[in-house]
Parts: sequence; structure tokens; C-alpha cells
Amino acid sequence: MRLPTTTLQNCLRVSQRSSTFLRIRRVSPTGFNCYSTNAPPTVEVAGKSFQRDEWTNVPPHIISCVNRSLHLTPSHPIAITRALVERQFIGPVYKSYNNLSPVVSVHQNFDSLGFPASHPGRSKTDTYYINKDTVLRTHTSAHQADIFAAGESKGFTVAADVYRRDAIDRSHYPVFHQMEGARMWSRSEVPGSDIAAAVRADLEKLPKHNLVVEDTTSVFHEGNPLQPEHSAKECEAIAAHLKRSLEGVVVEVFGQAKKAAIAAGEAKEDDAPLAVRWIEAYFPFTSPSWELEVFWQGEWLELLGCGVVKQSLPNNAGVPDKLGWAFGVGLERVAMLLFGIPDIRLFWSKDGRFLSQFKEGQISRFAPFSKYPPCYKDVAFWLKTSSSPAGGSLAQFHENDMMEVVRDVAGDLAEDVRLVDEFVHPKTGRKSLCFRINYRSLEKTLTNDETNALHESVRNALHERYGVELR
Ligand code: PHE
Repeated sequence: MRLPTTTLQNCLRVSQRSSTFLRIRRVSPTGFNCYSTNAPPTVEVAGKSFQRDEWTNVPPHIISCVNRSLHLTPSHPIAITRALVERQFIGPVYKSYNNLSPVVSVHQNFDSLGFPASHPGRSKTDTYYINKDTVLRTHTSAHQADIFAAGESKGFTVAADVYRRDAIDRSHYPVFHQMEGARMWSRSEVPGSDIAAAVRADLEKLPKHNLVVEDTTSVFHEGNPLQPEHSAKECEAIAAHLKRSLEGVVVEVFGQAKKAAIAAGEAKEDDAPLAVRWIEAYFPFTSPSWELEVFWQGEWLELLGCGVVKQSLPNNAGVPDKLGWAFGVGLERVAMLLFGIPDIRLFWSKDGRFLSQFKEGQISRFAPFSKYPPCYKDVAFWLKTSSSPAGGSLAQFHENDMMEVVRDVAGDLAEDVRLVDEFVHPKTGRKSLCFRINYRSLEKTLTNDETNALHESVRNALHERYGVELR
């Protein structure tokens, strides 16, 4: 069963069932190439042609999002948010990379970062494969190794679109944006090779803030370990620099959000201060690792993931004398909070009533232009079983396959899809699923005929692609 998705999509999700890369969840070997039947032997992505194979699962509606570059579109809320965070990491220390192609190798996205072969993030149910060696990046960390190897600056940021097969609801979209950041120090360049002292000296130069941050994490311990290549002092200094730098981002971003909310009459100057906390986390490419959470409208939201860079990365990139930290933040999540944007689909809207509300360099509160009525429709079906004569590779079905069919047929007209019932027939052992789809346009009222036609197409596509028996 799906968990209620009360949090917003961010950098850390693999899917709606797991909130971080760490948590392993049920994976069924599906996400097969449902586009292969009549598909040409190659697939075009970002102006390049790739050979299809049995791993290819990237659908046309996703390919069409490549190159929208919302993070670089002037006056778009994602670009405004990107610039706001980027301003905290300026040159010459930090170099920004904002034009890296989303088409990366499996090596860049997973292997270079030490993801184990069995990691669920690698599965076709979670990741868009162009073919067995090439994916649409699932996170901006895919560029860490190359940027370390290029060694163009001490630190960097990467803002980019990332792609994940995922749930459909108001805070999840299969394409979203992240900003990666990293800061490294070189043993051969700091005075006396004393990394800890050099990092502490840089820490002193960071702006101080008076944000109260709850931090009950210890810098490292067995479950969130110090790396053998680092001394305790080095790790402590790097962690302190990392945490202060990121707290600075929160102070800036939420200070701006509060100003905008006050201007819109939604908040008061003396409202309770922002509650922020550090919690421990796990990523294959940092150790120790943490997440930063903020308390927003009654719940703790994961804002970013970070940690001390695993030494294997700089070592493999040919810069073994360097060590430091990295973070990744989800820009949609931040933008939704900053601008009060209630539905992630809005970021993709080309409607002037949305786009005209935002101005470069300014945080303003989103004024909804209208709320059109929802239309709920259920679809229930029996899954094919492998024991059935026609079973074979169509036997498995993953919730993300449902999401994909709905995205493909209804696009942004689907607001939310949830599994409302699931059972196994006691006699036949067949499994039945029932999903409830909420069709709602952000731009107009859908007519009954329109929603009925959409729903009929979803039903047909489910039957054709996955061989399910509609009920
Ligand atoms: N790439 C991670 C994610 O998407 C976030 C992260 C980046 C964590 C850098 C640690 C360091 O979940």
C-alpha cells in the first residue's frame, strides 16, 4: 500500500514508498519496455539517437520534458529559487554548472557513487533507462565524479532537471530539479597539510546566523561512520563547515519566504521562529551523512541530504589529496514553500496566468487563478499471473507502471492517483488492484465527456500494455 504523501517531493525520494535512497523496498522485476512493440530501433533524446534494448523504458512524454530548462527560464519560480540558493555559493570558490545534459551513463548515475548492484534505485521501476548503459539522471550527484576529476574550482554547484518514475500527486512529478553543491580542500594546498585547521579557518569566515537548529546527531558513530581516510578532527571540521553553510541557505531562503508571506498578509513579523533540525541519514556516497528538515505547516519536511564525500570519489577521480562535503537539495520543494505554490504540475504550466505572476529576483506569493472541480474515477483489474498460459514477462505490475500509463494518457490532467484496494483471491490466487484517479485540469473545467474519454484510454492502455483483466 502506498503511504499518504503528505510531504513534498524532494531530492531524497526513490519513490513514494521510501523516503530516502537508503530504505529498501519491495521491487518487482517490471518496468519493462512497453514501447517496444512498434517502436523504431532507436530513441531520440536531446537531439541524439540511442539504440533501444530491453532496458529502454523512457516514454515520449518524459523525453518531451528534456530541454525545458525551467531552472534557466528567466522569471520562472524554479529559476528564481535556483538563483537564490546559488547566491549562497559564489565564485571564485564555487563554480556553477547549470547546463549539464540529463543523459548520463549508468556508471555516472550509480557506479561512480558506489551504489551496490542490488540498490532499488537502479531498477527499471524507479529509473528511466534510455538503454542498458544510459539513463536520464535520477539526481545531480551523477556529475560529482566528473567535476572532481575536472578540478576547475574548490567548490561547485550543479542545478539541473532530474528524472524518476514515481507517484502522481500534488507534490510528485517525474521530472524535477535539484541543486548539488560540494566543497573540497586539498591536503597538498592547505598550510601545513592541516585540513582541520584550514576548514576551521574557512568556517570562521562564514556569516554567523541566529537560527536555532536542533542537532542531536553526533558527528560520527558506528552507524554513521567516520571514514578510515579521515581523522576525527578533519571530519568534525568538515561537518561543521557543511552544517553552517547549509543553515545559511535556510536562513536566506526562509527569511525571503517570510517577507513574502508578510507582504501578502499571510504571516506576521512576530510569528514563531522557524524550527529546523539535523537528522542522520545514509547515502552510498557520503559518510557520515545527514538530512536537514524544517517544520512547515505542522510537519517535518526533508529539505536536503548531505555528508562528508566518500573518499573513493576523489580517489577514483585522480585527486586523492582532496576531501570535503557535498549536498543535494530539491528545488521544487523549496519553491513550493517560497511562493506558496500548491501543485507541482503548475511549474510546467505554460499558462500566462501562472507565468506572469513571477519576476526575476523576487519572491511573491502565488495567487491561485481558479480551482476547477476534481473528477474521481476508479479502475479495478486482475493482474496477469505467471502461471496463466499467456503470462510470461507481463506477469508483474508495479505501482509506478500505473503512474506511467496515467501520465502517458492524461498528462498533467491527472492530479492524483492512489491505490485504494488490493486483494488476492483466496481460491485462484489472482491479485486484484483498484486505483482511484483524480482528473483535474489546472487551467479549465473538464467536461464529463473529456474525463470519460481519458479514463477509457487509461483502461485500454492498461489492458494493452500490461495484459490486465479489467473488472
Ligand atoms: N543525491 C542525493 C539524493 O538525491 C542527495 C545528496 C547529494 C546526498 C549529495 C548527499 C550528498 O537523494
